[in-house]
Amino acid sequence: MSGHATPIPMTARRAGPLRGQAHVPGDKSISHRALILGAMAVGETRIEGLLEGEDVLDTARAMRAFGAQVEALGAGRWSVRGVGVGGFAEPAQVIDCGNSGTGVRLIMGAMATSPITATFTGDASLCGRPMGRVTDPLALFGARAHGRAGGRLPMTVVGAADPVPVRYGVPVPSAQVKSAVLLAGLNAPGETVVIEREATRDHSERMLAGFGAQVSVAQGPEGRIITLTGQPELRPLDIVVPRDPSSAAFPVCAALIVEGSDVLVPNIGLNPTRAGLFATLREMGADLTYENLREEGGEPVADLRARFSPDMAGIEVPPERAASMIDEYPILSVVAAFARGRTMMRGVKELRVKESDRIDAMAQGLRAAGITVDEGEDWWAVTGRGQGDVPGGVTVQSRLDHRIAMSFLILGMASNRPVTVDDASPIATSFPVFEPLMAALGAQIARDNA
Ligand code: S3P
Repeated sequence: MSGHATPIPMTARRAGPLRGQAHVPGDKSISHRALILGAMAVGETRIEGLLEGEDVLDTARAMRAFGAQVEALGAGRWSVRGVGVGGFAEPAQVIDCGNSGTGVRLIMGAMATSPITATFTGDASLCGRPMGRVTDPLALFGARAHGRAGGRLPMTVVGAADPVPVRYGVPVPSAQVKSAVLLAGLNAPGETVVIEREATRDHSERMLAGFGAQVSVAQGPEGRIITLTGQPELRPLDIVVPRDPSSAAFPVCAALIVEGSDVLVPNIGLNPTRAGLFATLREMGADLTYENLREEGGEPVADLRARFSPDMAGIEVPPERAASMIDEYPILSVVAAFARGRTMMRGVKELRVKESDRIDAMAQGLRAAGITVDEGEDWWAVTGRGQGDVPGGVTVQSRLDHRIAMSFLILGMASNRPVTVDDASPIATSFPVFEPLMAALGAQIARDNA
C-alpha cells in the first residue's frame, strides 16, 4: 500500500540482557517469488511460512489483479491458483507495490512478455527509485515502458505481443534485475540467457527449477550464465519458506552488543548468496555459532546462537562479499560502532538506491549519535568506540526504510542514551513482529505516543 498514514515514533533504551528464542518471519525474497511463480503455474501452489509483511501482501494483491486466485489460509499458509505462463489478465486498476522494489521489479518482468498493459506505483520511497535497470532489458523482449523522468514510478508497461528471447549481461549486481529478465523470459520462445558478473541471491533460479522450468547455471569467463528455456508449463509446487536471514540479522546483532545477552534464532536459511553478514561478524570476533546445521528443501539451514561479544574489532569487509549481505550493511554499521577500530565497507554503491540512500541515512544518524563515519560514492567506514562508549541520545529519520528504522532501534538498545526513530511504521514491510519479538527477548522499546 502506498505511504503510511500515521508515523509511529519509537524509542529504544539500554536494558538488561537479551535472552531467549527469536522466531523471525519467512524470507521476503522467497515469499515474493513463491506468489509470482505460483500465479504463473497451472494449478494450486501451497505455501507455508509466507512472510505476511506489507511488501509481500502488496505482491499478493497484485497477483490477484493479474487474474490469479490468491487466498490466505491462516498462520502463514497460502494457496495460489495460477493462470499459467502467458495467462495474465490485464489489471483493471493501477498496481500499487507500496514500498517494495522487489515486488514491482519482479512483477514488471513477469507481465512484460504478455500482450497486456499495466500501470505501477508505490510510496514516496519506491517512486524515487530507478526502474530503468529493469525496463531497459524488458525493452529487448519488445516491451515498452513510460514513466516519470529518470525512469521513476508511476510507470506504465506495455507488454510485448510477440516477445523475442534475450541475452543480457546485468550491468549492476542485482537479483531483482536478473529475476525480472528470467520471469520475462518465461513467456518468450527459445532461450533467454542472463549473465551476472557477481553472483547475487539465486532464489529465482532455484524456484524456477522447482516449478519445472528448464534452467541451467554455468560459470563462464564473463561470470555466472543462467539459461532458461521459454514457454514451459509450470507445475504447481508445495513451498516451505525458510526464515529470513536478513531479519535474523537484527536479533543476532542486538545480542552481540547488549551486555550479557544469549539469543537463539532458530531455522535460518544460510544460502551462501545470503549469509555474508554472519561470516563478517565472526571475522570481527562475534560469539556467533551455527547449531543443528542441516539441509532443508535444498538449502542449508541452522539455528543461530549469538552471545554478547565485548571484544569485537573492526575489519575490512571483502567487497566481493557485498552482494551476499547487501541488505545487512545498515545493521553491520551499528555493530561496527561497538567494535574497536575501523570497519571498512567497499563496493557498496547499490546501497545508495535502496529504500533510502542507506549510506547517507546511517552515516547521518551514527554521526549524530557520536560515531565517526567517513564515506565516498561506493564505500563507507565506521570507526568504532568499543563496548560501553557509544553516546546515542538522538532522534533519527527512518526515511521510509524498514532496515534503517530497525538498525537505529538496535543502536539505542546498547548506547548510553536512548535512540528515537521518527517513524517505525516501515518495519511492517518486512518484519511485522519486530517490536513484540524484541520486547520478549528483554529489549526496552516503546512507541512514543502509546
Ligand atoms: C532482492 C534483491 C536485492 C535486495 C532486496 C531483495 C530480491 O535488491 O536488496 O531486498 O529479492 O531479489 P537488488 O536486486 O536491487 O540488489
